[in-house]
Amino acid sequence: MRILVTGAAGFIGSHLCERLCARGDRVVGIDSFDPFYPRDMKERNLTGLRADARFALVEGDIRDPAALTRAFAQAQPEVVVHLAALAGVRPSLLDPTRYADVNVIGTQRIVDAVREHGARRLVFASSSSVYGLNSRPPFKESDPCLKPVSPYASTKRSGELLLFTAHHLYALDITCLRFFTVFGPRQRPDLAIHKFARRIAAGQPIELFGDGSTSRDYTFIDDIVDGVVASIDQSVPEPGYRIYNLGGSRPVALSALVALLASALGKQPLVTYGLEQPGDMKRTLADVTLSGQALGYAPKVSMEEGIARFVDWLRAQPA
Ligand SMILES: NC(=O)c1ccc[n+]([C@@H]2O[C@H](COP(=O)([O-])OP(=O)(O)OC[C@H]3O[C@@H](n4cnc5c(N)ncnc54)[C@H](O)[C@@H]3O)[C@@H](O)[C@H]2O)c1
Repeated sequence: MRILVTGAAGFIGSHLCERLCARGDRVVGIDSFDPFYPRDMKERNLTGLRADARFALVEGDIRDPAALTRAFAQAQPEVVVHLAALAGVRPSLLDPTRYADVNVIGTQRIVDAVREHGARRLVFASSSSVYGLNSRPPFKESDPCLKPVSPYASTKRSGELLLFTAHHLYALDITCLRFFTVFGPRQRPDLAIHKFARRIAAGQPIELFGDGSTSRDYTFIDDIVDGVVASIDQSVPEPGYRIYNLGGSRPVALSALVALLASALGKQPLVTYGLEQPGDMKRTLADVTLSGQALGYAPKVSMEEGIARFVDWLRAQPA
């Protein structure tokens, strides 16, 4: 298949592109190397892909129609997987306008480009954060999702909504995937597992927001990639609009996460406690019944194994 992946140099994008190339797809990635975290980390993510003849990268911004024209011309995509975004929850409180620009306007630009250049399916990276205030775990796709609690969450819900409109008006075939906190090798450095692991390994204190009882549904990267690939391949009778949760489907308390990391690193953690952060959700947990039925999605990697694989990767990284 010919596939265009936006955000290809990032954590999830680079793993997805590797999996697609490994099964013989031709993949074009587009990425702007946004400075949210260092370019050299993203270049390391791309090391294997740069050597693969089935992969090509267009450096450019998804908000720039000329860059999208280059990427679509090179890819001639059957499917577009749209992962490019500003992805942090807490940083979105500091610069909500930029988040709206990249995540909402950027997504509309992708819709415009799909309409202009063609692709039979668009798969969009949404987030568990869209469940916001009025959902009770485990979160179901049928929950109303009307009260997002961070600018990031609002932009992801906005993306889902403008994609519904594109499906309704132009019969585009759309799949929105709600990822639940993804972890594993190459995880973004702003996320708790990565941030805590580096500090615990260096003998530095870590600050937990709240009393350690908040919990997250963590999903190992290989399970997420399984779900994305299944949604690329899904056979449907006619163009539709679908939303699926992709989660690990197990809640892990923050304090339990720290204990798991410390044990994998063989270190004693130095923990301080701070205030719960505005914009954070207290609990996330995916109901994966629908994605199981429709995509055959079934998370396989345990928290312990996933943390061990993350720690092995971290140990091989520069300080
Ligand atoms: N990692 C998670 O736990 C998680 C959870 C839910 C949803 N998501 C979503 O999955 C997607 C990928 O997340 P990730 O963790 O791999 O993040 P990431 O930051 O590692 O990857 C995103 C990539 O998009 C690129 N990008 C940003 N703005 C761009 C622009 N204007 N034009 C072109 N490229 C641009 C960045 O340079 C980066 O390489 C995002 O849409 C994110 O919101 C991630």
